[in-house]
Amino acid sequence: MSESQPNAAFTPRVFSGIQPSGNLHLGNYLGALKRFADSQTAGIQSIFCMVDMHAITVWQDPEDLRRQTRELTAGFIASGVDPEKSILFNQSQVAEHAQLAWIFNCVARMGWMQRMTQWKDKAGKNQQNASLGLLAYPALMAADILVYHATHVPVGEDQKQHLELTRDIAIKFNNDFGVDFFPITEPVIEGTATRVMSLRDGTKKMSKSDPSDMSRINLTDDADAIALKIRKARTDPEPLPETVEGLEERPEARNLVNIYAALADLSVEQVIAEHGGQQFGTFKPALADLAVAKLAPISTEMKRLTADPAQIDTVLRRGSERAREIAAPILEKTYEIVGMVR
Ligand code: AMP
Ligand code: TRP
Repeated sequence: MSESQPNAAFTPRVFSGIQPSGNLHLGNYLGALKRFADSQTAGIQSIFCMVDMHAITVWQDPEDLRRQTRELTAGFIASGVDPEKSILFNQSQVAEHAQLAWIFNCVARMGWMQRMTQWKDKAGKNQQNASLGLLAYPALMAADILVYHATHVPVGEDQKQHLELTRDIAIKFNNDFGVDFFPITEPVIEGTATRVMSLRDGTKKMSKSDPSDMSRINLTDDADAIALKIRKARTDPEPLPETVEGLEERPEARNLVNIYAALADLSVEQVIAEHGGQQFGTFKPALADLAVAKLAPISTEMKRLTADPAQIDTVLRRGSERAREIAAPILEKTYEIVGMVR
């Protein structure tokens, strides 16, 4: 393996996953789904996974989990991820993820897992009572990625530490067994432009767990709800600044401008050039129109798709078959390297 191009021997392949834990919102769309849809370029294979096995590291009601897995799949498709071009499936249907995860449980060290900030946050003060799966979570995530020899993983900033751990696992496996088998995965992390903040507090991330529904635009919201939430979004009393720098100390104004830019595929500079100096009484209706034009069709399409769960299940089953075609030989080779009799 050469130092400068560690993955030169691997075909570029994109993998990412989202937990089916409910309430898809504008942050998920701009931070993940839309980027996934935009990245499906000819030539590079993309694999997107509903990580249902990660979801159960904390309690999930079975009926909710099933519904949310289908809803997330509908969200991917409605956002423009094409299940023919990309591979779209749920994790539990491709057993190779769990099988490789076991091997990685034996490669990774306890200390690596205990250092993860997500483990510390989610387990809280009562670590003794957290599931063993919650601690082992990053080894399963490494398996998700490496069972496809994926080279590029688009994720949010909060997943960076897990990706570094994925690299550590690949490096340790390659060293332990004296092979160049697993690629050293590159994180593809977007800047702050795709960090969507709460509509009620520009310093907090838009989140599915915020108790106020007015803080987020759900991908299932209809046109009226979308327009209302933007009209009621918190702002300061000043008009929009004439320069990008003028947004610096104004988190709510910056958030609305960022959302406008992301939805319109414009830069923040271009939005300020067009709307700088406007009062919110003018800018908010423009943003509401844009958001309705871009998001209402997604919510309509999600409704149409979720009305036919059998069709979604067919998409997931086909995707799983295609995924397994890639994963099975990589797992087989891993077993051989490790010394399992086949
Ligand atoms: P989560 O809903 O936290 O499971 O995240 C699912 C995906 O959406 C991840 O790729 C996150 O990085 C992304 N995401 C979640 N919330 C936001 C947000 N407020 N802004 C941008 N991206 C987000
Ligand atoms: N841990 C990721 C999250 O919570 C989801 C995830 C699981 C993932 N496996 C993955 C993301 C593999 C990228 C690649 O957002």
